[in-house]
Amino acid sequence: MYSRIVSTGSYLPEKTLTNHDLERMVDTSDEWIYTRTGIRERHIAADHEFASDLALHASRRAIEAAGIAPRDIGLIVVATTTPDMIFPSTACLLQAKLRIRNCPAFDVQAVCSGFIYGLATADRFMRSGCLQHALVVGTEVYSRILDWSDRATCVLFGDGAGAVVLGRSDAPGIMSSHLHADGSYSRMLSVPGSVCGGKVAGRPFVQMEGNAVFKFAVKALDEVVGEALAANALQKSDIDWLVPHQANIRIIQATARKLGLSMERVVVTVDRHANTSAASIPLALDEAVRDGRVRAGQHVLLEAVGGGFTWGAVLAKW
Ligand code: UT7
Repeated sequence: MYSRIVSTGSYLPEKTLTNHDLERMVDTSDEWIYTRTGIRERHIAADHEFASDLALHASRRAIEAAGIAPRDIGLIVVATTTPDMIFPSTACLLQAKLRIRNCPAFDVQAVCSGFIYGLATADRFMRSGCLQHALVVGTEVYSRILDWSDRATCVLFGDGAGAVVLGRSDAPGIMSSHLHADGSYSRMLSVPGSVCGGKVAGRPFVQMEGNAVFKFAVKALDEVVGEALAANALQKSDIDWLVPHQANIRIIQATARKLGLSMERVVVTVDRHANTSAASIPLALDEAVRDGRVRAGQHVLLEAVGGGFTWGAVLAKW
């Protein structure tokens, strides 16, 4: 028994913030941002929009594309670093907004690797044979945890949500998933804040040692995509599409180079979405599925690295 991704959906908030807009907010330039990251613009959620709202739009689109009803969903896994509140989980809030009851619903927190972690988790539930469909969502309102006066971080991130519906399959679908973490790197990329006694304790904004994260990311992604290929006895040339986490075009290019893949075989949205953390892979995947790039029978490799550090890959046959 296997699972496969039967449909995708995504949602981007209406408001966009361009690099030129940011030039008016911090000491930066479109030229610096674009050449260092590949980003031109990002979407920013409205004040009344929360992670569960973005997730709802993306989920409805994925559920509709699967040709099922919300009540057919047997499991909801939401990956987010920017939940609506401390609890209930964003997955439970999404479940209520979808007007369904009883199925298990929980969040996973693996920062930018969250969607890979969520997909791997849901796949294992599906393989146990007790579910028909699972909904896996990556949703972020990262704009809420950015220090908008820190040019080193505020130019890098955006808001959005992506979702997939998993269905049962006799043949793989999700061929394998590979998850890793090393908490000894936790200080290199973090939001070192919490709520204590009704007050914010620590600093609730993203802080990152960008250059060190960059170097770790390139190495970890190289290793984990190699692991995914080896586990399935596939060659680099067997990969039809790379759908990477969208943090920096230079990291994406480095992974593509190591795989010997031309950039035409890589789904890139970082220019328009920036880094939407757990939402970036399902957002990119939805774009490539809906515009017809990803087709039946193709091998699609998803990979990500994020705070923790966490990293991982999922290899799927469409
Ligand atoms: O999604 C989770 C994983 N996250 C990532 O993968 C992000 C990984 N890191 C990166 O993408 C890159 O390291 C950054 C884009 C964050 C930075 O690029 P970099 O080439 O590593 O630059 P840097 O940090 O070494 O900074 C170079 C210079 C510094 O100035 P000095 O010290 O050389 O004078 C910074 O102060 O660029 C300066 N700088 C900026 N200048 C204009 C930093 N941010 C900005 C900015 N505009 N926004």
